[in-house]
Amino acid sequence: MKTRITILSENLIGKRIGSGEHGFSAFIETDHGNYLFDTGSGQSVVANSLTFDKDLRSVKKIFLSHGHFDHTGGLPEVLKVRGKVDVHAHPNVFSDRIAVHKENGKETKRFIGIPYKRRYLEFLGAHFVLNVAFTEVEKGIFLTGEVPRKTNFEKLDPSLYTEFDGKTVQDTFPDDQSLILDNEKGLILILGCAHSGIINIIHHVMEQTGKETFSSIVGGTHLDFLTPEQLEGSITFLKKFEKIGVSHCTGMRAACRLQLEFGDRFSYGCVGSVLEV
Ligand SMILES: [Fe+2]
Ligand SMILES: [Fe+2]
Repeated sequence: MKTRITILSENLIGKRIGSGEHGFSAFIETDHGNYLFDTGSGQSVVANSLTFDKDLRSVKKIFLSHGHFDHTGGLPEVLKVRGKVDVHAHPNVFSDRIAVHKENGKETKRFIGIPYKRRYLEFLGAHFVLNVAFTEVEKGIFLTGEVPRKTNFEKLDPSLYTEFDGKTVQDTFPDDQSLILDNEKGLILILGCAHSGIINIIHHVMEQTGKETFSSIVGGTHLDFLTPEQLEGSITFLKKFEKIGVSHCTGMRAACRLQLEFGDRFSYGCVGSVLEV
């Protein structure tokens, strides 16, 4: 399966055209059709699709990695262009999400969940297909479903919470799922924010597919937000990949470390970056 992945929403622009935003979205072209993984925050996905000549009307399915606004906020705009379409996600994608920031002894809370009601999205054409387990959504295309947390050093992000039964509790991200494309050169792994931990995700993918050969990795890795131990552990696992094109919540410090470690195998995935496998 020939695959071409173009980043439509990302924090940085890299080609002097397109718009950046805090978000992530990737347009995926394969022999079987086109797909959209995440939709960014909402300010740039449609504009960037026009800039980079990616026709959102051709999208066969939309996949949502998790319920944060920076991956789901563009869904209404995409639906207005696309109309009726299957939107794959975990049932917890609709949970209320909160970010807590502490600065100079002051605590600030922000709502960071999907900014739109499910019913509104359905009126715009979303047909939600919800999965909890590892699922083959099309021939050779898989969603990880819930990822078991097995490593002891991939910790939860202490600033991210969810609201459940009126209580604010730390977010365990049961809805965090990644997309896998089974390419003859190896598996392609597309991450949203990797909130379940990149190593947990890779382990889960190997266990579920029975395959250990990876070709490329794309998306947010959340490596900058956690411990140096996690970063170093993750680098060991990233050696499995031929091409590393991560971005978004990877962060500059982690991206620089990956560039030093992987050289030409690493490229930062900005708006408009293309990965061909
Ligand atoms: Fe994100
Ligand atoms: Fe996130």
